[in-house]
Amino acid sequence: MLIRGNLVHCPELGQLDILRDFVLAVDESGRVSYVAPANRPESQQMLADAAEPPLVIEQGSFLIPTFCDLHLHAPQFLYQGTGLHLPLMEWLDEYAFKAEEGLDNDPVLADKVYKRLATRLIENGTGAVLLFGTIKTETNLILARVMQEAGIRGFVGKLSMDISSRPSYMEESAEASLSEARSFSERCCDLVAHLPDHERLVHPVLTPRFVPTCSDELLEGLGQLSAQADLRIQSHMSEAHDELEWVQRERGSHDIDIFAKHGLLTPRTVQAHCTFLDPPLLTQVAEYETAIAHCPLSNAYFSAKPFRLREALQLGVKVGLGTDIAGGYDVDVLSCMRHAVAISRMREGERIVATAGTSAEQETNLSIDWKEALYLATRGGAIALGLPSGTGSFSVGSPFDAQCIRLFDARTGEGVGALDFFDDLSERQVLSVDSIEKWWCLGDTRNRQQVWVQGKMIKFGC
Ligand code: GUN
Ligand code: FE
Repeated sequence: MLIRGNLVHCPELGQLDILRDFVLAVDESGRVSYVAPANRPESQQMLADAAEPPLVIEQGSFLIPTFCDLHLHAPQFLYQGTGLHLPLMEWLDEYAFKAEEGLDNDPVLADKVYKRLATRLIENGTGAVLLFGTIKTETNLILARVMQEAGIRGFVGKLSMDISSRPSYMEESAEASLSEARSFSERCCDLVAHLPDHERLVHPVLTPRFVPTCSDELLEGLGQLSAQADLRIQSHMSEAHDELEWVQRERGSHDIDIFAKHGLLTPRTVQAHCTFLDPPLLTQVAEYETAIAHCPLSNAYFSAKPFRLREALQLGVKVGLGTDIAGGYDVDVLSCMRHAVAISRMREGERIVATAGTSAEQETNLSIDWKEALYLATRGGAIALGLPSGTGSFSVGSPFDAQCIRLFDARTGEGVGALDFFDDLSERQVLSVDSIEKWWCLGDTRNRQQVWVQGKMIKFGC
């Protein structure tokens, strides 16, 4: 496939590249095999030799990498947008566990909820998603199958929990839980074993829910399993007051120390939230090369304070963004980026103590801007998941995971969706950083025309 048009990506934090009138080729395996300005002789030759006419992205539109949602509870999509009046531990008892148990007992409902979730993810430009599922293996296999069939890169976590406030919703013992985690991982891989490597979109992830639902024995076993089988790990860490108080009271420790002790902080790990980690503890996370899924909306409800995003980035922690459905109620990563920026801006004026190399207190810009948020939602998430080099940007060898965004009609100058432009159309023939910012602030599903994952189109037309 050959494409000609404007490309936009963020290869580094804070860097927004607008590649105007480029040619991009995608090979048989869905990887980018060529990307260069259209006016290069080589590009001209490719256009002239193409067996099929290239896909032309018209003026007023551009391609951008798909979003990565680094933290989403698939079964909680069932009650997304309800019940956010309770603190975390009560909310889990009252809503989360019940809903998850409900899906584990009703595979038809699970199939329906997960298919609708997949539709919403594609509509919102999410090409890769790190998912928390439920306890039961079969329900997680439904989730994996739905994501694979929808063409979404799905990292699926069967919950491991041998402790629960809801006796009907937990596994019998650490041993039983470990055996199910092993079994799910194998069966999830079996699901796609007949496909060539590049078409295998779903992968199992070890998922100790969080310290309060996992015994030391279970955590230890999962740490060992991850090391033996080279499996990714995800969990929740240092999210809320009531959670940390529980861990201190019942386990006499801080959750980061418990995860570390059991070998669960690895370069393959993504920890959600980490709101209560100060710079010395964030330094530890960086040293373990563990990634953090920053979930700004759910933090606003459950965490009572903002995540130290700027400090984490400065300390070299890998960070991506998560919607945390249903602790966050919005599946749209574009909204998640806006929340991340808005919350970070509320921290302006705070002073931080520099940790690396100096003891002096220094003024640091604690807010992030929209370009940095875009990086976190694309490249940042891909790095956190350990996806092939270059994923989340347009570079040769990376999978072609992209979305086509339409800002305005090139003929009439009429803005699409909520975008209104009042300047001269001729100025807009050249894609500007201002128009991209306007989309970032005001855009929605109406601006999304197509989505591709691994070179395959998974949505066309709105
Ligand atoms: N901690 C443990 N489980 C959950 C969950 O389902 N949602 C959130 N936000 N935090 C959790
Ligand atoms: Fe969560």
